[in-house]
Amino acid sequence: MWWREAVIYQVYVRSFADADGDGMGDLPGVRSRLPYLRRLGVDAVWLTPFYPSPQVDGGYDVADYRGVEPLFGSLADLEGIVHDAHELGLRVIVDIVPNHTSSAHDWFQAALAAPAGSKDRARYLFRKGAGPDGAVPPNDWQSNFGGPAWTRVIEADGEAGEWYLHLFDAAQPDLDWTNTDVVEEFQDVLRFWLDRGVDGFRIDVAHGLAKDQEMPDLGEQFVAGGPAPFGHPHWDRDAVHDVYRGWRSVADEYEGDRAFVGEIWLDEVDRVAQYLRPDELHTAFNFHFLLAPWEAGALREAIDVSIGALRDVGAPATWVLSNHDVIRHVTRYGGGELGTRRARAAALLMLALPGGAYIYQGEELGLPEVGDLPDELRQDPTYRRTGGERLGRDGCRVPIPWTPDGPSLGFGDGAPWLPQPPEWAGLSVATEEDDRGSTLRLYRDALAIRRRHDALGDGEMSWLDSDGDVLVFRRDRRFGCVVNAGAAAVPMPDALKGAAVLLASAPLDDDGSIPSDTTVWFESGASASANPHDS
Ligand code: GLC
Repeated sequence: MWWREAVIYQVYVRSFADADGDGMGDLPGVRSRLPYLRRLGVDAVWLTPFYPSPQVDGGYDVADYRGVEPLFGSLADLEGIVHDAHELGLRVIVDIVPNHTSSAHDWFQAALAAPAGSKDRARYLFRKGAGPDGAVPPNDWQSNFGGPAWTRVIEADGEAGEWYLHLFDAAQPDLDWTNTDVVEEFQDVLRFWLDRGVDGFRIDVAHGLAKDQEMPDLGEQFVAGGPAPFGHPHWDRDAVHDVYRGWRSVADEYEGDRAFVGEIWLDEVDRVAQYLRPDELHTAFNFHFLLAPWEAGALREAIDVSIGALRDVGAPATWVLSNHDVIRHVTRYGGGELGTRRARAAALLMLALPGGAYIYQGEELGLPEVGDLPDELRQDPTYRRTGGERLGRDGCRVPIPWTPDGPSLGFGDGAPWLPQPPEWAGLSVATEEDDRGSTLRLYRDALAIRRRHDALGDGEMSWLDSDGDVLVFRRDRRFGCVVNAGAAAVPMPDALKGAAVLLASAPLDDDGSIPSDTTVWFESGASASANPHDS
């Protein structure tokens, strides 16, 4: 079961590599860079949506679930990626977006043209407005991107009519998952891609599909945005599990260990674990780990809570530090040299933990968030819908620097869709290739050790005693990991005395102590203590 311990590299297609020089990443670009990912040492690639789409939300507004957006290439290009990836020993996961379609999707266009109460409208969540002339939204639900979650349509007679629900942008109408057309359509879409050899799916907003059909107000109990608490009228409702039981049975019809990973933002890990029961999804992103600050106690708690909850349902843990929706972790951890140092330490922590891990493109280069994009270039609907109050997610989506020069630092031949900071020349793949101390070389070394070391990947871990700012654990009697998240150097723990350093996120001090914000991997010889608890 590869997915129990895979390291999966997230390719944000728009920003990875631009083969045709139009400034936008594309599938031929991704295909040309697969050897880079092989060499990096990951096990699989997750591609963000490449489907036909008006790109209102970077492709998470899908107009046709069975095609490829011409901006990104063709179906043949996608098939080429799957083919080449498999030749290289890499798996391919694609994004599926079931909570909403694009407003440009045929179904929604038909719904707009059809009258209230029609079958076409029943695939979405159309409702009458409140107030005497229906001019008030049906309830107080808010869009995740800011503003109300309802938009009113103009009916065929030219009058303002019903409202439709969109938990994201108005160009992303929510589907009604009690409608059998919707259920059947998505199972068919899964088959379409499984037939083309994809190894699995990343499920967008996996906890959002079921809504309380009564559509009660959120009131003061629930706020929009952020991880959702239990009992919410549109997040994490029990009915959503039926959807995934159906999907699992589709995937299980196929050979080759196809897998689902859910994007499930919830407060309680126990609730996330419910999605990973044996007849539902295989894994889920671990946002508790991502959200934890760089503090030993908070990290340890996130690790323990995650492993505990997932063990109860037999699912492996996964770990993630960044993705295309959050501020890059170099910046979250303090930015500059400090942030980079911590990010490197966090990477070695993540890759030593039991289970699988996700790497977001560019984190292996140590890229920070770009905070000073010109306002007029910002594309995230959040920026527009909040009147600039929230900057949105463009700053983590800036195209990857491959070389220290060229019009887009090797991303393509034209100006990139978001400008790269000039100092990224020093963080380019080519620059870091040549630098033994670079973050790229650290990731590559870590992944190589992870591949060959039996103790890493799926399995158990056990904590050893340590001081407040330090985490020490073993994976087995031979592999140990020390994370010093504090500001002062600490001596090597007694329990690991005599062990050899396999890899360190920063050079150790001359006396062998572990400097601040540094993670070290140790290998103990046969003479090391057999019992992690006897230290
Ligand atoms: C998920 C995606 C995000 C997108 C949203 C709506 O959270 O990761 O990028 O905007 O869903 O589809």
